[in-house]
Amino acid sequence: MRVAVLVSGGGTNLQALLDAKTEGRLPDAEFVCVISNRREAYALTRAKEHGIEAVYLPTVRFKRREDFQIALRDALLERQIELVVLAGYLVVLGKPVLDAFRGRIINIHPSLIPSFCGDGCYGLRVHEMALARGVKVTGATVHFVDDGTDTGPIILQKAVDVLPDDTPESLQLRVMQQAEWQLLPQAVHLITSGQIPIGRSEA
Ligand code: GRF
Repeated sequence: MRVAVLVSGGGTNLQALLDAKTEGRLPDAEFVCVISNRREAYALTRAKEHGIEAVYLPTVRFKRREDFQIALRDALLERQIELVVLAGYLVVLGKPVLDAFRGRIINIHPSLIPSFCGDGCYGLRVHEMALARGVKVTGATVHFVDDGTDTGPIILQKAVDVLPDDTPESLQLRVMQQAEWQLLPQAVHLITSGQIPIGRSEA
């Protein structure tokens, strides 16, 4: 299955996917390209180091939001992408992309949905909210993307303990190490191997 990974930042989740591929844990996934809206995203360097096409597609290149979404959709269709993985991608997907890849887009979120999710809940903010609420357990979720924010069907979740001395940064790191970097390759394997059936491809 031809996979595109969309990123905005450091790309440690992308790295977890690439490591899983190298170690033979994703035999049915072909990583075709990594697309970023930020030129300096280290994830683009990780892609190049693995011989994967790295595409810089900034929103600012387009006057209208819709035109960016069409360009992103076309970039994915041109490469005959069958599964889109959002791995720390900070651009909200619009109708053109969602319609073309309905049921074929997954996202990783650093909390146990439905806690600490929805509009404005991303990055360190999610862990700040978990600590402020005083939860003793948090975690990560991989889910399908639908028209809402973090509202699509849940694929996998993993719980992670919150420790008394946690800061948002220490909690973020533990959630990544103990949950995100395991869940995302597992979810991609479940889909690419056909164990979780997904929608029709337009590619
Ligand atoms: C992760 O916490 C992920 O859950 C969230 O954005 C962060 C991306 O980190 N959606 P990285 O770029 O994969 O290191």
